[in-house]
Amino acid sequence: MPILKPFCAGAATSASQVEGAAFEGGRQESIWDLFCKEKGRILDGSDCSIACDEYHRYEEDIALAQKMGIRALRFSIAWPRVVREDGSINPEGLGFYDRFTDCLLEHGIEPCPTLFHWDLPLSLYRKGGFGNKDTAKSFGEYAGAVVRMLAGRAKTIFTINEPQCISGLGYVTGEHAPGLRCAEAVFLHVLDTLLLSHGRAMSVIRNLAPKARAGAAITGAVITPKSPRDIDAVYRENYRVTGDLMTDFWRMALWGDAVAFGRWAEGAQELYGSALPANTDEEWREISQPSDFWAMNIYNSRMMTLDDEGRLVSVPRPAGAPKTAAQWPVTPECLYWGPRFAFERYHKGIMITETGMSGLDYVSEDGCVHDFDRIAFLKAYLRQLRRASDDGVPLEGLFIWSLLDNFEWAKGYTERFGLVHVDFETQKRTLKDSAKSVMGTVDEILLS
Ligand code: GCO
Repeated sequence: MPILKPFCAGAATSASQVEGAAFEGGRQESIWDLFCKEKGRILDGSDCSIACDEYHRYEEDIALAQKMGIRALRFSIAWPRVVREDGSINPEGLGFYDRFTDCLLEHGIEPCPTLFHWDLPLSLYRKGGFGNKDTAKSFGEYAGAVVRMLAGRAKTIFTINEPQCISGLGYVTGEHAPGLRCAEAVFLHVLDTLLLSHGRAMSVIRNLAPKARAGAAITGAVITPKSPRDIDAVYRENYRVTGDLMTDFWRMALWGDAVAFGRWAEGAQELYGSALPANTDEEWREISQPSDFWAMNIYNSRMMTLDDEGRLVSVPRPAGAPKTAAQWPVTPECLYWGPRFAFERYHKGIMITETGMSGLDYVSEDGCVHDFDRIAFLKAYLRQLRRASDDGVPLEGLFIWSLLDNFEWAKGYTERFGLVHVDFETQKRTLKDSAKSVMGTVDEILLS
């Protein structure tokens, strides 16, 4: 029990991170194109105008994915490719995703599109972006064009990727586009527009693709218990609103409780007061229409425990504890507790829409990429996911981040998250060792 069949298993990418062709096919600029032009924003001074050049190489990449045994690909559709500056639909942009979808199906790979993975069109940003509630309406119109184009070919559609990062990293810390540092009222307003956008897209999907399964792909800090006596307190902590914006934007409750329960999370009203947007009942209904699964991107967690006075305190990581090239802690238990707590709270089948690691991967003398650390990482993480399912958490899917090394946002090309190595000078692809074994590992650990 209970791995649900059919189980979506594969890898994930996103448009800005892989496509390139930023100035082709009638694509308008996105907030990320603008952000990359600002000095000091991207660690290596790079941009996403070429990335993996997947716009031109998608057939090769999909053939590679097939060779790896990938059964489902989570990819994103670039809003700025599909909608022109004047708001009209760009048939050339839509046509690209039409061919992309067909190509996946021809290779026996299930297309699992995400409608929005951070690349807000510049024309909409100029009108206020997610600071303007009308952007939700524009998102609904864009979603309509995309879902109509998909015409029953995508069985699983994700609305928005990691709303917490869009609002938190984009509008609070300024690390991501549009690079703003705003007061909490602005952050909450942006989050609210994202909620409304998600709701609009859900309505569109229900109307135009009633058979598709749909929901957002969210993130959220995962806190794990050190010992069984910590479990209840740690569960509550995971979903607590603290009043500290830097903590709250990463946590799941502000977004999760809104879409699941149609209201702001408990405590938010008292802590944020009039900064919290007031939605009408009708708006809350649209935001909280049931999704078909609970999809989460989970990479790591931190541990807490109750001290002698019954206070929850952080458990420091031991010296030399494992970490990835991105300096992210290696904590396989996040894939046990994250899904378990989310299932207890939201009662939906769980999809892991991203997990994975960045490594110091390079092509060796023998022409191979020996990323033994990624193989070990994935095995350990998947075993914990399996343990969650053995303990009663229904699992609906798993996507490894990422199919290809790609443009890692503000880190540029300094991180390699791919199963496939990309030489960004030549665009040569090399299957890493992990790519050769990953689907076998998924089948062995999760599906046997
Ligand atoms: C995210 C994004 C991905 C990242 C990945 C690694 O989760 O932040 O969805 O686009 O590249 O997570 O940081």
